[in-house]
Amino acid sequence: MLKSKHLMLLLLCTFLVSFSAEAQKKTIEQRVDSVLKLMTLDEKVGQLNQYTSAWATGPVSPEGNKIQEIKEGRLGSLLNVKGFDKTRAMQEVAMQSRLKIPLLFGLDVIHGYKTTFPIPLAEAASWDLGAIEQGARIAAVEAAASGVHWTFAPMVDIARDPRWGRVMEGAGEDTYLGCLIAKARVKGFQGKGLGNTDAVMACAKHFAAYGAAIGGRDYNSVDMSDRTLWEVYLPPFKAAVDAGAATFMNSFNDLNGVPATGNAYLQRDILKGKWGFKGFVVSDWGSIGEMIQHGFVKDNYEAAQAAIKAGSDMDMESRSYIKNLAQLVKDGKISEALIDDAVKRILQKKFELGLFEDPYKFSNPDREKQALNNPEHRAIERDMARKSIVLLKNENNILPLSSGKKIALIGPLAKSKDDMLGFWSVAWPDNSDVISQFEGLEKRVGKGKLLYAKGCGISDSSKADFAEAIAVALKADIVILSMGEKRDMSGEAKSRSNIHIPGIQEELIKAICETGKPVVVLINAGRPLVFNWTADHAPAILYTWWLGSEAGNAIADVLFGDYNPAGKLPMTFPRSEGQVPIYYNYMNTGRPAADNGTFANYRSGYIDMVKSPKFPFGYGLSYTSFKYSDLKLSSSQMDSNGTIDVSFTLTNTGKYAGEEVAQLYLRDQVASVVRPVKELKDFQKLMLKPGESKIIHFTIDKQKLSFYNNKLEWVAEPGTFDLMIGSSSADIRLKDKFELQ
Ligand code: BGC
Repeated sequence: MLKSKHLMLLLLCTFLVSFSAEAQKKTIEQRVDSVLKLMTLDEKVGQLNQYTSAWATGPVSPEGNKIQEIKEGRLGSLLNVKGFDKTRAMQEVAMQSRLKIPLLFGLDVIHGYKTTFPIPLAEAASWDLGAIEQGARIAAVEAAASGVHWTFAPMVDIARDPRWGRVMEGAGEDTYLGCLIAKARVKGFQGKGLGNTDAVMACAKHFAAYGAAIGGRDYNSVDMSDRTLWEVYLPPFKAAVDAGAATFMNSFNDLNGVPATGNAYLQRDILKGKWGFKGFVVSDWGSIGEMIQHGFVKDNYEAAQAAIKAGSDMDMESRSYIKNLAQLVKDGKISEALIDDAVKRILQKKFELGLFEDPYKFSNPDREKQALNNPEHRAIERDMARKSIVLLKNENNILPLSSGKKIALIGPLAKSKDDMLGFWSVAWPDNSDVISQFEGLEKRVGKGKLLYAKGCGISDSSKADFAEAIAVALKADIVILSMGEKRDMSGEAKSRSNIHIPGIQEELIKAICETGKPVVVLINAGRPLVFNWTADHAPAILYTWWLGSEAGNAIADVLFGDYNPAGKLPMTFPRSEGQVPIYYNYMNTGRPAADNGTFANYRSGYIDMVKSPKFPFGYGLSYTSFKYSDLKLSSSQMDSNGTIDVSFTLTNTGKYAGEEVAQLYLRDQVASVVRPVKELKDFQKLMLKPGESKIIHFTIDKQKLSFYNNKLEWVAEPGTFDLMIGSSSADIRLKDKFELQ
């Protein structure tokens, strides 16, 4: 009796909660409608208009007086305003407009705000979804406390071409991993939901297929089959919608001839139609106006018409909407209902954020002070940075370093702070909070005990300083070389045709290796680089990306074994730019070449190089070793509603406690369309003590076996599947097969 009373009470509470959530939603919708009714056509168009405030990533339209326009209700959002005082000041101006509709403040909070986190590609190397979510959470806490409502992140573009500088902003080449990371980041940014003062709106970008720009050249065209679009490039966007992403940004590229900004198939049919996305879409910077250069429209009038029809709700910096939308309605070229729909989507978010109740809600000096000076954030960043490091090579276990050795730190990035911040850093140019590698290591070995030489600059062609570097190396027991890219060598508009370590840095590595001293190379970069000589000759290599505020401490932790590296590459590292695009989940040809081996004529290889990459997707070493054994499948057959439990034993066979990312790959042997040679379908990251074993389980279900057939239907076809479990996409330790009936 008591039990059933409790049950009744519980049911009533659940009902009331969901009822009040529903009521709340209704209220917002009704409130949106009531505001819309008060608006003139010009005020509506104003809501669809966004300008930058200060610094810019594209051409800033010089004309006009923004303050006056805000007062006239001709602006819905500003980007690049941050800080309690500035956001408050701008919002005060908006409160002088007739309807007092609050402004939205957007900013590229890509990897941290005041506390700079590792670049997103580096974080992806952690394969640690909880940590990635937490990184985004902290970025949101700091940004929101500074008055920011909206981050233009996460970038969820799949990227298979390391020449494209924006690979640094995403999660790499794999769709499965990319979906999970997209979700983690959206959840991290939006926290417990819009309306909380520590949550910012996420923005999944760049919709769509921007990462497949031909030749890896930024902003370039994309030509892609529908199947590849649906199977490889769209799923992370869908994952972002499912995770509740409040907004989307479209992209600069054309997709099969139609600019994404004017692409109704992408924005109306897929995003707002099939996926039921209720948020709003902002254009990329000036991309509405850029449809003129594409040759898709003749002028800004036509550009505005094409973009609004295609579902672009807000115009970032092209001024096509503010100048033309009202006229387009008056000329009967578009219906006002199209504008109303876009306005409603934007007002809805302003209500959800709570800005109509309190437009200054996010601009709070005390909260800002507290959030931006939080030592806990630094500790979490340091941990994220350690998790992002990938150990590429460790001959004779030269790492971890034992204490008591004389260490020399040499290289152009050894004392760098700016470069640790990486591209898209909100904090830059203020690098005062960054721990350089020199500082991090010196703290570890003792003041005055760390030898140092620069050796050369990042892009130098002069070897003038080599002699000094060699002399310093000769005084040491072990040399750490800090090499790589400058912070603006990977990022937007930073495509490179040559992705070797820049300048004469590899010459310096050779010169130091010739001293006979043991060498550890740190490679700091925003993308996979090519460094074959180093990979073949340096005994130890850590890929340290651009790791953020605590870079130096995190690297010292790994070098000395206070942290055992466990990162795995989220992108394939080529041997040569000539292999690009290169990715692990390619389709087999009718004439496959061996991965390595000598050249065989009339096979799908190169006559001057093996086809395999230098370092494969999913690769990364540890200071310990792992054994994979005892693979068991609960059945060798499943029907389409069934599942197979896959289990195996993972054992730490080395001397150190360490984490391994065990990866599950599948291949559909025969299908109605050619399937990739393998595809990541699951993974688990787990910590094992020396000698410890654990049994890992994976579940195979229909979803993992499905793909888009030629009719774009999501199907799983009966037949045999290869199952591969390993430590990377190329290091498969356990294999079996099963049948889908
Ligand atoms: C980039 C976007 C960015 C926007 C605003 C554009 O150039 O492509 O990713 O969010 O600028 O800064």
